[in-house]
Amino acid sequence: MSATQNQSNNVLEIVPVAGRIGAEVRGVRLRADLDAATVSEIRKAWLRHKVIFFRGQHHLDDASQEALTTLFGAKPVAHPTVPVVNGTDYIHELDSREGGRANSWHTDVTFVDAYPRASILRALVIPAYGGDTVWANTVAAYQDLPPALRALADTLWAVHSNEYDYQARKPNSSADDVRRYQEVFTSTVYETEHPVVRVHPETGERSLVLGHFVKRLLGVSSHDSAHLFQVLQEHVTRLENTVRWRWAAGDVAIWDNRATQHYAINDYGDQVRVVRRVTVDGDAPVSIDGRRSVTRKKAPRAAAARSESAGVAVATATA
Ligand SMILES: [Fe+2]
Repeated sequence: MSATQNQSNNVLEIVPVAGRIGAEVRGVRLRADLDAATVSEIRKAWLRHKVIFFRGQHHLDDASQEALTTLFGAKPVAHPTVPVVNGTDYIHELDSREGGRANSWHTDVTFVDAYPRASILRALVIPAYGGDTVWANTVAAYQDLPPALRALADTLWAVHSNEYDYQARKPNSSADDVRRYQEVFTSTVYETEHPVVRVHPETGERSLVLGHFVKRLLGVSSHDSAHLFQVLQEHVTRLENTVRWRWAAGDVAIWDNRATQHYAINDYGDQVRVVRRVTVDGDAPVSIDGRRSVTRKKAPRAAAARSESAGVAVATATA
């Protein structure tokens, strides 16, 4: 645990929650106009621990949550396809009653090139039991790779897309969930090439860029792609690389979306769970050899479906 004095004479405490990722920050009431020393401590903790947690932030509303993005040095950015909550500019809501159950490992929005640097998640309604979220440290995962696998990962690139076989991945989903996925989430279809290993623009650390938006690895067969993805992805999600957070209403989690994956555990049945997210604008990943991620396809879903069924290439536009 570390402690520093902030301007309000509160002691800011940074209390690790797990061995390799995750820390609770105590002694701060989150707001956009925190003093510079406190902001600096929060940002250091965020970069070091990858996900930081704040209990009891009941004073926050949608607007003040959106304003928190300034603490992380950039503007809020709306989800590329899902409409924001009514009356807000950037709020993305995950409501269990509306199919908002993100129970697969992912990094937010990696189907675009400059995906968010940070996500700020606020808990509004939390089940009496269940509904925890788990985060994994993708820097530790890279560092722990045996040298032969690390050398392979260093050279690989992957195509990330928001279009995948939803029913195959979530066979128990309702017809409404599938329709919502098709009509809303993939209203615009993206395909973006990212290096499997990116260099963090602030820390210089190398991390694995994988998760459920990966469609295929480039330069290998689809069979080899599936196997190689699984080998590397399992290094990310080793329990030693994770932290699990038991939510209470009013909690806020802020993660470095360039150095983590996360998974929202869907174990709470019909209980209601509502969380709201604001994402902070990011920059396109840069590979070890200095090449930048690029979006190869950005097309309306209907056009993409028509073109694919006709067996012709889909017109692409760079995002
Ligand atoms: Fe997410």
